[in-house]
Amino acid sequence: TIGDSKIIEIPKVHDERGSLAVIEKQVVPFAIKRVYYLYDVPSDSYRGGHAHKEQESVIIALSGSFEVIIDDGKSRKRIMLNKPTQGLYLPTNIWREIDNFSSGAVCLVLASTTYNEDEYIREYETFINQSLG
Ligand code: TYD
Repeated sequence: TIGDSKIIEIPKVHDERGSLAVIEKQVVPFAIKRVYYLYDVPSDSYRGGHAHKEQESVIIALSGSFEVIIDDGKSRKRIMLNKPTQGLYLPTNIWREIDNFSSGAVCLVLASTTYNEDEYIREYETFINQSLG
């Protein structure tokens, strides 16, 4: 459920030369199999619009900001991500949508699986029917 999603604080080292954030394996509640990122995203763009049967993920606004809507079929929540040191952890079976991208936003995704279209649920109705059991 969306109650199992959470904001993960990514440790950082800051000094007068700038900031350095580090993601080591204990920061993320799964083994990372894949990293991908969205960039050059038009501000009116809508991304996501799917759930995953197997994939867990952590979503990070490496630069700029955007909003993530998460939905478990019972409740729905909108979360603004705008800090490179905060990751949104999403367990399996969470419907997510991403919108309101700022200019220059970079959305980094750490994923627990390699890419497999078969584990996507891309229709909201299918997701709802499945989450009702
Ligand atoms: P899509 O799932 O629509 O992106 P988002 O969830 O960010 O809106 O993926 C866009 C395209 O990229 C689609 O054709 C599938 C492909 N893709 C890969 O080939 N590998 C990947 O790891 C991902 C995430 C997507």
